[in-house]
Amino acid sequence: MLGLLGWWFTKLSLPDASNFSGSVDRLYDFIFWLSVVSFLGIVIMMVVFSVKYLRRREDEETPYIEGHTPTEVGISIGLFVLVMIIFYWGWRDYVQMRTPPAGAMEINVTGRQWEWEFQYQNGRVVAREGQEPPTFVLPRGQNVKLILQSKDVLHSFYIPEFRVKQDVVPGMYTFLWFAPTVVGDYTVYCAEFCGTDHSRMLAKARVVEPADYDAWQRKWELAAVKSAWDRQANAAAAKPTPAAGPETIADKGKALFAAKACSACHSTDGAPGAGPTLKAVFGHEVALADGSTVKADENYLRQSLMEPAAQVVKGFNGGVMPTFQGQLKDDEVTALIEYIKTL
Ligand code: CUA
Repeated sequence: MLGLLGWWFTKLSLPDASNFSGSVDRLYDFIFWLSVVSFLGIVIMMVVFSVKYLRRREDEETPYIEGHTPTEVGISIGLFVLVMIIFYWGWRDYVQMRTPPAGAMEINVTGRQWEWEFQYQNGRVVAREGQEPPTFVLPRGQNVKLILQSKDVLHSFYIPEFRVKQDVVPGMYTFLWFAPTVVGDYTVYCAEFCGTDHSRMLAKARVVEPADYDAWQRKWELAAVKSAWDRQANAAAAKPTPAAGPETIADKGKALFAAKACSACHSTDGAPGAGPTLKAVFGHEVALADGSTVKADENYLRQSLMEPAAQVVKGFNGGVMPTFQGQLKDDEVTALIEYIKTL
């Protein structure tokens, strides 16, 4: 009875707001109702058998039961099939949730004790203002891929209405994707205990119509270009050349790529060098010196910067590349990766 009430309450209080809400709920409902039916079946049979096999006379003998092979085998096979149905169903949905579609809008999310920070591809950063948790904006119907990283300890990024949750782990990137389907404000929770203010580590996801999202970004971009222009004008006092747009994450990565002299060994146009070219490397299979291949994703590129000898590209000498462990900040690593993605 309490379980039923809880199920009903959750249905009412937790709206569907992403492309995954429906499929997650269907599997959940299936398991829930299966449990209800099994529970009732067991209780009813218990009552029926207690009455049916009640000893009515003092001298009545309880018959010895040998077992019944067809029933036992039947129950085992039946339960096995049920479990496999649940397994297949969950696996199918899981694979879909773990495979971001091509062309998804990417947002870099950083968790730290005790706040969330969001960075859009155009360079816009949404962070906490005073005591107010940050509000990041998403266009309705857009596939969104969040690339998550932690500056300190384990956190977990959780939006109940979207039915998505992902651990945020220091020292590596994790990701999740979804497409919000309903306009509104949704609370982002941290779902991994991370210290004193864990319960206040919140953010707000605001889902708006695509046109409103574009306006929200354009307004910021114009302001960013204007302030860059003003800075330039103040510095040079001469005729300023207006920037074409705000400095994106990839722009920062490009500047770092030059500043750290990466281009001394790595070409960006496919030309040979002391190190492998970075042209069109992201998202592709890379052949390694040990004969294996690896997909060049965010974590592969990160490891190549931190532990260059761990995964050496076939035909190259891994000892040449210096480690950047402790020399690049997390957001600089992210910027470099965003730049490499554009090549
Ligand atoms: Cu971050 Cu709990």
